[in-house]
Formats: sequence, structure tokens, C-alpha cells
Amino acid sequence: MHAVNQSKELTAYRGHVISPNINGELNDIREGVLIVDDHGKIVFCGPWAEFDRHSNLKEIHNFGDKIILPGLIDTHLHLPQVTVTGKSGEHLMKWLERFVFPSEARCADPHYALKIATWFFDEMVRNGTTLGVVFSTIHKQATDIAFEVANSVGCRAIMGKVMMNTNSPPALTENLSDSLQGSLDLCEKWHGHDDGRLLYAFTPRFAVTSTSDLMSECGKLWHSKPGTYMHTHLAESQEEIDFVKELFPKARTYVDVYHQHGLLARNNILAHAIHLDDQDLDVLKETDSSLSHCPSSNFFLKSGVFGYRRVEKKGIRFGIGSDVAAGPQMSLFCVMKDANYIQPDEWLYPSELLYRATLGGAVALGLEDKIGSLDEGKEADFVVVDPTHRTGIIDDILSKPTEEILSALVFLGDDRVVEATFVRGREIFNRQNALELSSIRR
Ligand code: GUN
Ligand code: ZN
Repeated sequence: MHAVNQSKELTAYRGHVISPNINGELNDIREGVLIVDDHGKIVFCGPWAEFDRHSNLKEIHNFGDKIILPGLIDTHLHLPQVTVTGKSGEHLMKWLERFVFPSEARCADPHYALKIATWFFDEMVRNGTTLGVVFSTIHKQATDIAFEVANSVGCRAIMGKVMMNTNSPPALTENLSDSLQGSLDLCEKWHGHDDGRLLYAFTPRFAVTSTSDLMSECGKLWHSKPGTYMHTHLAESQEEIDFVKELFPKARTYVDVYHQHGLLARNNILAHAIHLDDQDLDVLKETDSSLSHCPSSNFFLKSGVFGYRRVEKKGIRFGIGSDVAAGPQMSLFCVMKDANYIQPDEWLYPSELLYRATLGGAVALGLEDKIGSLDEGKEADFVVVDPTHRTGIIDDILSKPTEEILSALVFLGDDRVVEATFVRGREIFNRQNALELSSIRR
């Protein structure tokens, strides 16, 4: 019988707990329970039968045979782009110019910025994502508003003001000192807010829209602020790579451009990282860089295929990202499915994909001591999912072996399977409440 500290008020969440561990295996506990204290920490995760019922339980939520998973971690997506999902027909550079940049320019208006940030974070938690690593826009005020909204929604965010000072449309071009000062001000205001629920990421968009000065000054700023992140794009499309070669002819490769400017180190997050040679992978490994694999986006823009097994074998840390709006939806279940589909010769299994969307993402962000799996001592970020909410899934799926349940979630799951989303034990989304609200509004 597992006894826990009696001095705190505890809440029990009963259900079928499925959580990856660091060896890539699953903890799979039917009739399990998650016991959460009033600080939102997990004090017990195991079979309900092994929990000492004399503990000081305030409430018991019984989800029956529904699934309790760790909160999903989206390691790369763009807040202002929620309005331009599904705009296809172009490769990256033309797509940015035609659809993305005009949508981002609109965030100069704070009323619009508030509307979009509210939409974005509501959509994120509705999809079961408890932490998003988010690109805002170049606008300081819009980014400040985005942090305010994330704060009140109650989710986690690693976010930053985008930095762009060249090869950008006039409405999205800033001067270097404003870019640095704006980033620094936001970092000082928000980094570490609410005991680390909100964190700052210095966010140079990519090498194409950054001068050499911007990258090196950004690198210095990032290294001067411990615990902050540096978030950018790397080697996504061939046309982009050719342009970077023209702009930085002395660098061996795109990876080398970032290396020379001090942007490769622990706590960076490099989205896409598709077109890399072996030496690039060595450098990424040596510098302890982290990657975000965005398969739905890579499909959508026909950017190429991420070397999933190559990167894994090299021991480079990586998570998965929706990359909205190049990724057409925020559901990480859909992104997991696409990660498997896009590999022409490899099978990726549901349990390893679940790892990438949870603990693998936490490891990539250096946050595995706090989040990513459901273990004693971690913060209670979790989602309750029920695959039967999605039509076309057999209604006795929850009584099937775990492998079959995960397979249904990964290959057929989307936003509909998410019943509730919790961060630090606080419910920040509930499907039933959301349905009732939307019927009142209608
Ligand atoms: N590279 C630079 N900016 C972007 C962006 O907004 N989306 C994607 N997919 N790639 C980028
Ligand atoms: Zn992106």
C-alpha cells in the first residue's frame, strides 16, 4: 500500500494511465490513478488498488477505462498563422510571401493580435497540447498580448517575438536595435513567469531574414539569459538552402551559418532540419542542439523527408511539431500519424510516436525533470482521451490491448478524442463544457 504525505490536500484521477518512460517503454496501468497535490505535483501514479485510501483525498475524478496520457508537447508552431492553414500550392519561400507574411503583418493591430492569440491558445488546449513552443510575430505588443493570453488560459508556452531585419517585406522588417531591445524587454517581463510555466525563446526567423549582426547579437543575448531558448528554422527547403548559400558563401552549410553565429548550443530548438549531411549531424550532436520534426508541414509544402532514424541513431534530441500553418492542424495525433506516413521505408510505431509527442519533446527542451511523463515528483500535465468520440472507431476499443488503443489514437485520432486537458492539476479544457458553451452561443 502506497502512503503519501498527509499534510496536503490531494486529488485523485482514476483511469487507464499510459505514459512513456525514458527507455522508450510504456508504463501501462489499467485501473490506475494519478494523485495530485494542491501544488499540481504528482505524488503517486500507479494502480488504484495500491493506493492508500486513508490519504487526505479532497476529490476523486473517475474516468473509468478512458485514457490518461501526459500532456502533449508541440515543439514548433506559429501563433499568427492560425488564419492561413490550408493554403497550399506553393513551396516554402513563395508560400511565406503569398500567405504567411500578410497574415503576420496584421498583428501590428493589438485588437487583432488579441483575437488571434485567444483563438490560438483555445485551439491548442482543445487539442490536448499543454506546452507549445511558439513563434509570435515581430511585434512586441502582439507578443506581450500573446503571453497574457497564454497566462490566463493556463497552458505552458515557450515563446518569443520574431526577429527579422532583412529580406522581409517592409511591414515585417525591424532595425537591429529595436529587435534586440524588444526581445530583451519581453524576456525580462515573461521568462520564468508562474514558476516557469511561461518561458522566453529568442526567435530569429531563419538565416534568410537575419543579418549576420542580428544572429550574433541574438546569440549573445540568449547566452546571457540562463534558461531561455533560441528557436529558429533550419534546412527546410532546397530553395531556402540555396538562398542561404548565396547570403553566406563562406559557411560550409546552413548548419555552419548558425554555428558561426553562436546559435548552436543546448536550449536551442531548430525546426525541420531535413537536408543535412553527416558532418552537420555531428555538429548538431556535439553542440547538444535540439530539433523539432514537423512531418505534416513537410508533407504540405513538399519540403522533403526528415531523417528520423538517422537523427535518432546519432542521439540528437528531438520532439515533434505541428508547424501550424504549414502543418494544417494542431492535433499532435495527426502529426504522429504523418510522421509515420512520410517515411518511405520505415515503420514508426505508435508507442514511439507517443514518446516523441510527450517525453521526447520534454527531453528536447531539457524539461524532462518536470513534464513529459506521469511520474511521482513531476508536474501534473495530462490529457484525458477517449478514442470513441471519433466516429469510425469501434466502440469497445477501450477494452482492447493497449497497442490497439494507441494505434487507433495515432492513426485515427484528432481533436475530437480529447476530453479534457490539465496543466499542474488544473483543468484548462473540458470538451463537455466547450460543447455546451458553443450551443449557447449558437
Ligand atoms: N521558415 C521561415 N519562416 C517559416 C514559417 O513561417 N513556416 C515554415 N514552415 N518555415 C519557415
Ligand atoms: Zn515554422
